[in-house]
Amino acid sequence: MPCVNMNAVLPKARREGYGVGAFNILDYASTRAVVQAAEENAAPVIIQTSPKTVQFWGCGTVAAWYRELAEKTGVSVVLHLDHCKDLEVIRRCIDAGWTSVMIDASSRPFEENLELTAKVIQMASPAGVTVEAELGEIKGVEEDVAVSSTQARLADPQKAALFCRSLSLDLLAPAIGTAHGIYKGEPRIAFDRLEEIARLTGLPLALHGGTGLSAEVFTRCIALGCAKVNISTSLKHVFIDSFVSYQNSHPQEYEPVKHLGFQLEELKKDVTRHIRLFGGAGMA
Ligand code: 13P
Repeated sequence: MPCVNMNAVLPKARREGYGVGAFNILDYASTRAVVQAAEENAAPVIIQTSPKTVQFWGCGTVAAWYRELAEKTGVSVVLHLDHCKDLEVIRRCIDAGWTSVMIDASSRPFEENLELTAKVIQMASPAGVTVEAELGEIKGVEEDVAVSSTQARLADPQKAALFCRSLSLDLLAPAIGTAHGIYKGEPRIAFDRLEEIARLTGLPLALHGGTGLSAEVFTRCIALGCAKVNISTSLKHVFIDSFVSYQNSHPQEYEPVKHLGFQLEELKKDVTRHIRLFGGAGMA
């Protein structure tokens, strides 16, 4: 399949009521695990990269992994930049071949968020690259930036409507009570607010902080308009735990390809579990 942007997968997902998983990759093996799991489940999928991962490997390398895997598979695969505050990094990713980017100016006042998002749309749309923006502030730690419970602000539906009327945005990430990282208690999701934002904006919405949400919460959020569902922490845990547990159960083994093979299978299981929870299997 050719490399595609969010418009090739999200409007259909929103219309048909399923979620497309956006999985934060860490290296080539995890990228391969995401694409293989999508392929085995005939699901569209989003390879999501944090700016930190992009900086570690370099734009050209990550874009090459994407092209090589996406072009050989029969399912739609998007390459998306997650939570980026730096326009220069966004520019480099667009030039390298990302098909979608997120500008996160949610900590700025509304007008500045609008202005920065408009700049990113101007950079991205001539290249056919879709844009996600955030409104309100999502709790937790992402990209080493911690947003505490007191700082976190839920997205305002009227402001969301104004934001989306003023821009030709492709998808919106409204803060609705979910959080990045591991939940310490039961998350309190503002379903009414989510429903109103979905109705007033008409856009596919992105659900952040997916790790640890229950099947019921996923189903309800997806039914209310969350066409993109983000999973990062879960993959980080599987990535490290699988490697360590393989070593613990094979203490004499120093052939790393065996560790990598085990890790790949464990990552695929985690991606598969989420794809199925979101109703994305068979939707490619
Ligand atoms: P989790 O780390 O909670 O899975 O959230 C992922 C996310 O929303 C990335 O933007």
